[in-house]
Amino acid sequence: MHYDVPSGERGVSIEMNAKTTAENTGPAIQFQDVTYSLNGSVPRTIVSDIRFSVASGQTLVLLGRSGSGKTTLLKLINSLLIPTAGQVIVRGRATTDWDPIRLRRGIGYVIQDAGLFPHFTVAQNIALVPSLEKWDAARTAARVDELLSLVGLEPAEYRSRRPHELSGGQRQRVGVARALAVDPPILLMDEPFGALDPVTRAELQREFSALARRLGKTIVFVTHDLREALLLASRIILLESGRIIVDATPQEFPRIDHPEVTAFTACLAPLPGASA
Ligand SMILES: Nc1ncnc2c1ncn2[C@@H]1O[C@H](COP(=O)(O)OP(=O)(O)O)[C@@H](O)[C@H]1O
Ligand SMILES: [Mg+2]
Repeated sequence: MHYDVPSGERGVSIEMNAKTTAENTGPAIQFQDVTYSLNGSVPRTIVSDIRFSVASGQTLVLLGRSGSGKTTLLKLINSLLIPTAGQVIVRGRATTDWDPIRLRRGIGYVIQDAGLFPHFTVAQNIALVPSLEKWDAARTAARVDELLSLVGLEPAEYRSRRPHELSGGQRQRVGVARALAVDPPILLMDEPFGALDPVTRAELQREFSALARRLGKTIVFVTHDLREALLLASRIILLESGRIIVDATPQEFPRIDHPEVTAFTACLAPLPGASA
């Protein structure tokens, strides 16, 4: 298996892994010829022949138009959906062999509207999984404050607020904090910044990009925004009608000669009247 690793630093760590602990060298996530179909009165294939791996610590961006199958791939990773054919291997084990609850405890999930419980405070929302894991109150409170600081919210000011007392950008920050609560090795992010105004979106993208590099998580990030993909990705997979049509580095991607790539790069063109 070949991965594009831009930095020499990463190349060194791969070599060290190969010499030392063989069990750590496998990809964090692997799709092995996965197809997912709906078996209604008219059977319908949603994604087909999906094959890719995500190395530990990589940020894979799944890019594609609405309806191309991005969310379906995320749901196959955390076992909300089971493949019709093929297997999804997460941390060395097929999703069908995992206890779904244990699998999901190791996967943080962030969605577009953050999905916070409106009647819970910010602290209670972030502490959702720690409380399921029966952490004691002191450890939970310390972790909530640590996470609020990590996502740029002053703990004393925000921990007791309810979601309706936050801006959209602040809700997304809390959504990210909640996903990170028990320090899962994998993060799935489904258009997490898609509903924000452009200025707030750009701010969160920049901050998240820096945070992702620091945390070293394996991240699968879904977007229909090429600019966001180029900013965040170690690798970009472009989907069209449930199939992978491009698997490339952000450096390679814009130069690929394919009509769907051109459709996306056209969105990056300068504004009319902008100086060159
Ligand atoms: N439960 C379902 N029943 C029928 N069609 C579905 C269902 N889930 C997804 N689809 C269809 O599968 C395709 C891919 O959906 P999805 O993975 O949500 O795309 P994306 O996230 O890229 O917008 C879409 O055409 C969608 O309408
Ligand atoms: Mg979707």
